[in-house]
Amino acid sequence: MPSPFLYLTLTTLPLATTALYLHHLHSSLTKNVHCHTTPHLQSPSLSLPASIPRDGSTHLIMHERATKVVPTPALPRYPDPRAILTTYLRHNMVAFSRYPPAWMLYFAISDVGVRKTFSAPYLTSLNYEIGDLVNGVYRVITRTDSKVEMLFDPPRSYRGPAVTGLLAVEIREEGEQTVFVNDTVMWREKGGKAVVLEGKVGRWTHEIIAAGLVEGGTKWLMEEGTR
Ligand SMILES: *[C@@H]1O[C@H](CO)[C@@H](O)[C@H](O)[C@H]1NC(C)=O
Repeated sequence: MPSPFLYLTLTTLPLATTALYLHHLHSSLTKNVHCHTTPHLQSPSLSLPASIPRDGSTHLIMHERATKVVPTPALPRYPDPRAILTTYLRHNMVAFSRYPPAWMLYFAISDVGVRKTFSAPYLTSLNYEIGDLVNGVYRVITRTDSKVEMLFDPPRSYRGPAVTGLLAVEIREEGEQTVFVNDTVMWREKGGKAVVLEGKVGRWTHEIIAAGLVEGGTKWLMEEGTR
């Protein structure tokens, strides 16, 4: 019979290793991608619904911003000014569709047609224009050469947790440097149920995913985007 000590080690080791690994992942990712989460909006330019006051009077607004700066000459050049954002989104939304939060969304939707919006052939065929549906629940509401905003807008068949939020992705060229920004905004009525970004663990896991996507997507653009 194994000793209690061995037993304890065998059962807690995987958990501790996973926690250590995630800790390592979080700190190495946030070295390359700056993450900042606040209980208010960090930028006035985000398209929150008009019914949500931005002053915090009736709603709590959580804002996570992940930013990475890349040397512009390291990025591919496309003849079409909006192509870099399209290419980046195609790659990153496919990457996101393989993360656990996307599986959760997938299984919360029974509609076969909507489930198709999680597939790589679909996601890489999109130009991320207004009205496009991405990964089942994100509806494009803003599209310019440098910015896309998507509102959490689940289909009728959605049976997952109620979420109210917005994703914004921006690629801003500032001369020799190009800034990649990924915004996640979640809001709720005061007194309502807390959103993911309010809790320590939720914020931490969310930052790992957002920073991982920005890091992976910018690397991919620099290495493969020119092909
Ligand atoms: C931005 O981060 C959110 C949340 O982690 C993620 O769902 C989304 O796919 C990311 N967008 C891009 C283009 O990386």
